[in-house]
Amino acid sequence: MKYENFEQLKKDCSNCKNCPLGETRTNLVFGVGNENADILFVGEGPGENEDLQGEPFVGKAGQLLDKYLNVIDLDRKKNIYIANIVKCRPPQNRDPKPEEQDVCIEWLRNQTRLIKPKIIVCLGRIAAQKLISEDFRVTKQHGEFIQKGNILFMGTFHPAALLRNPLNKPDALSDFQKLRDKINELNIKI
Ligand code: URA
Repeated sequence: MKYENFEQLKKDCSNCKNCPLGETRTNLVFGVGNENADILFVGEGPGENEDLQGEPFVGKAGQLLDKYLNVIDLDRKKNIYIANIVKCRPPQNRDPKPEEQDVCIEWLRNQTRLIKPKIIVCLGRIAAQKLISEDFRVTKQHGEFIQKGNILFMGTFHPAALLRNPLNKPDALSDFQKLRDKINELNIKI
């Protein structure tokens, strides 16, 4: 199904029980930000804090993400949109199963159609393998821009992975700086 407006999409999504994750969630995490943004960030799925608050990236990983965004003048309240591959928390924060991703991604496709981003940044392996290519390797291909249709994709480290492995933080920061350079190069007004 294709949606014509965000409100209807959000309303239908909030009632979703298309996979078993819908039975165990506290809150569905639809997404946050500017619905007309040129830059869309996509994570993996809600964790505990996100499930409790209904907003993506609000835990420690989210605070780190906000820091990186801030460095390049991006702000979830102003000029970007943030969503996830799956909208409901996988129990014990396990990876979302391929079948859960396949069912849920239709919501993200509809969000993408309405937002019409110029750039999509995939946060971590799950999002990059789902949206860029199934053999995407974050450690090797982070920071590379890949054109698919009208949209430029880039994969970078998941902020939670950076908390576990801070040695990758300089590389992540450089990916965000490359994003900033790309925004300038394409004359995207943020
Ligand atoms: N990790 C994700 O991938 N998404 C969130 O919303 C929070 C943590």
